[in-house]
Amino acid sequence: MIEGKKRSTAIFLLILIFLSASSAMASKKLRRLHPCKNLVLYFHDILYNGKNAANATSAIVGAPSWGNRTILAGQNHFGDMVVFDDPITLDNNLRSNPVGRAQGFYFYDKKEIFTAWVGFSFVLNTTDYKGTINFAGADPLMNKTRDISVVGGTGDFFMTRGIATLMTDAFEGEVYFRLCVDIKLYECY
Ligand SMILES: *[C@@H]1O[C@H](CO)[C@@H](O)[C@H](O)[C@H]1NC(C)=O
Ligand SMILES: *[C@@H]1O[C@H](CO)[C@@H](O)[C@H](O)[C@H]1NC(C)=O
Ligand SMILES: *[C@@H]1O[C@H](CO)[C@@H](O)[C@H](O)[C@H]1NC(C)=O
Ligand SMILES: *[C@@H]1O[C@H](CO)[C@@H](O)[C@H](O)[C@H]1NC(C)=O
Repeated sequence: MIEGKKRSTAIFLLILIFLSASSAMASKKLRRLHPCKNLVLYFHDILYNGKNAANATSAIVGAPSWGNRTILAGQNHFGDMVVFDDPITLDNNLRSNPVGRAQGFYFYDKKEIFTAWVGFSFVLNTTDYKGTINFAGADPLMNKTRDISVVGGTGDFFMTRGIATLMTDAFEGEVYFRLCVDIKLYECY
């Protein structure tokens, strides 16, 4: 009698553990499929080139010994590091009212192909959003779309995480480029 009771309690516990594990897995899967927030924004980078000091929003701050800080170096700009404070807009027009600034840096990190590593924050201060979103990751510039990590946030984006897809929307020489950022957040509080 007591043996039977023990066995049924054990089976009951096993079923409970199985149910809670599978429901946790299901909710994880669901969260992965459905972002809790989706934002599409543009930012505009005007790189200093020795002539556009008034207009530039970014500057080369480090260059390899064979380069300089005015013009991006040869060999796919390997070793150049750029700091930026770029306007963010809701559409692809540089002259649209900015909704915030993209602030951070990128450096070119391969001699053989154009590729970079980026780390930056979106600092947003509008009636819709107040707070920051922080991004980091490898940015293989020649690919049409590149996914980087959303590693955190503050304010309206408190402790957020997700994935941002970068797309080069336009570029003019090595002075101006515009990125479209499709931000999908999977953790919102
Ligand atoms: C500022 O940069 C934009 C974009 O490249 C360009 O169209 C404009 O002519 C520039 N203005 C000045 C004063 O350099
Ligand atoms: C910087 O490097 C570029 C190309 O490598 C060169 O054309 C330019 O003259 C250099 N500028 C200075 C100020 O050294
Ligand atoms: C955000 O905007 C408000 C209103 O324009 C301003 O008072 C405030 O200082 C801004 N905050 C930041 C962090 O820029
Ligand atoms: C970028 O594109 C190259 C060639 O098309 C491909 O082999 C590579 O996997 C892509 N990288 C990423 C991170 O998507």
